[in-house]
Amino acid sequence: MECLLIKGKQKISGSIKVNGAKNAAVAILPAALLTEGIVLVENLPRITDIDRLVEILQALGAKVSVTDEGCMRIDLSGVKSFSPPALLVNKLRASYYFMGALLGRFREVSIPMPGGCNLGPRPIDQHIKGFTALGASVELEHGIMKIKAKKLIGAHIYLDVVSVGATVNIMLAAACAEGKTVIENAAKEPEIVDVANFLNAMGAQVVGTGTDVIKIQGVRELGNAEHNVIPDRIEAGTFMIATAATKGEAVIQEIIPKHLDPIIAKLKEVGTEVETGPDWVKVKGSERMSSADVKTFPYPGFPTDLQAPMMVLLTQATGTSIITENVFEGRFRHVDELKKMGAKIKLSGRSAIIEGGHELSSAPVKAMDLRGGAAFIIAGLASSGETCLAGVEHIDRGYERVEERLKSLGVKIERISMEDEDEIFPGK
Ligand code: EPZ
Repeated sequence: MECLLIKGKQKISGSIKVNGAKNAAVAILPAALLTEGIVLVENLPRITDIDRLVEILQALGAKVSVTDEGCMRIDLSGVKSFSPPALLVNKLRASYYFMGALLGRFREVSIPMPGGCNLGPRPIDQHIKGFTALGASVELEHGIMKIKAKKLIGAHIYLDVVSVGATVNIMLAAACAEGKTVIENAAKEPEIVDVANFLNAMGAQVVGTGTDVIKIQGVRELGNAEHNVIPDRIEAGTFMIATAATKGEAVIQEIIPKHLDPIIAKLKEVGTEVETGPDWVKVKGSERMSSADVKTFPYPGFPTDLQAPMMVLLTQATGTSIITENVFEGRFRHVDELKKMGAKIKLSGRSAIIEGGHELSSAPVKAMDLRGGAAFIIAGLASSGETCLAGVEHIDRGYERVEERLKSLGVKIERISMEDEDEIFPGK
């Protein structure tokens, strides 16, 4: 198994370019199935979630190639199957986007329930609500969902829960439906806007993304398209928080500052210096940070995907901070591991009470999800001693070559192979 060895008491310094947004890319690749033509997608992050999605596309009959500059060319003319391979599907949550895409293309899809990070219950009832509103039937047979529709007819859909996945999936299924679809109480994440821009580049007619009412005028068919994926605001935010938590100084480049407003505001509140330019942000950590309360909410609120990294920063701030996780029920699995490193955190319902100002000390820890893993890297950099972090495969799902990119920010971090867990967690 692979681990990261992270030397403590290091300050992040330097500059780094942000990659393309994972949560836009993982929707755009399945969305390409809506055309029988060819799409060119640039600025895709080189992460394992993308590798898995490419394997699924190829299993369905798509031809995928990548140019030296990293541009992905996908030829969808040979796609004949609407049953993605189960073993691949349950490796990542984003495989649920094949539901909307294959339903939109074939009016039929057979797919197992999606996998992905364990953040507590992750139902897909709102996705199904949208598909049935468009005229599809949904049956579950031996763990495989069979979704079929003679015809897809535009509908007026009110989401009971603000859901990124359901909003995107309904957009995909509605793009070539007959008539107009309205999604109310839609999620407003920038990644959803990016997916809609890709759909419209293929000839779809989607308006209103970025607001809570999205309108889709169904069209007969979609064609070829070229698209450049937007920068990853969560990766950018991770580097910003890591810089502040290690009291370093860094410039994060090729970002869209607007997308980072909630993180910039919170970092300034704890006493971090933040300066923004047209496509960059400069962060300078302060020796003394003060506590702050954080509440996660759908965009434009503070993103749940940065809750764990922010928790680490708040362990370094003087005073008591409260984090309230309003998006996912079970998104505090990183707390126990942080407590092993000396963090003083108490859980109460959806809130975590952090008593800051205590130095973290290295300990063998294991990532159980993508963003928790990123938080442990930050904790390792800020703590005394050398931290051994297992579960690197979770981090590789969403952060490209994480140790290489952190080394470019001046920190010592190595990826090593360990024979088995006993080497890391002796006496576990
Ligand atoms: C997307 O997950 C992202 N994943 C998550 O990022 C992100 O944390 C989340 O949106 C919120 O921003 C991808 O885009 C691949 P939701 P998703 O549907 O679509 C409930 C990362 O680390 N809900 O917006 O699964 C759900 O239980 C990942 O990059 C229903 O009740 O999130 C949750 O409480 C982690 N019924 C809330 O809505 C449904 O049908 C928000 O979930 C769907 C969701």
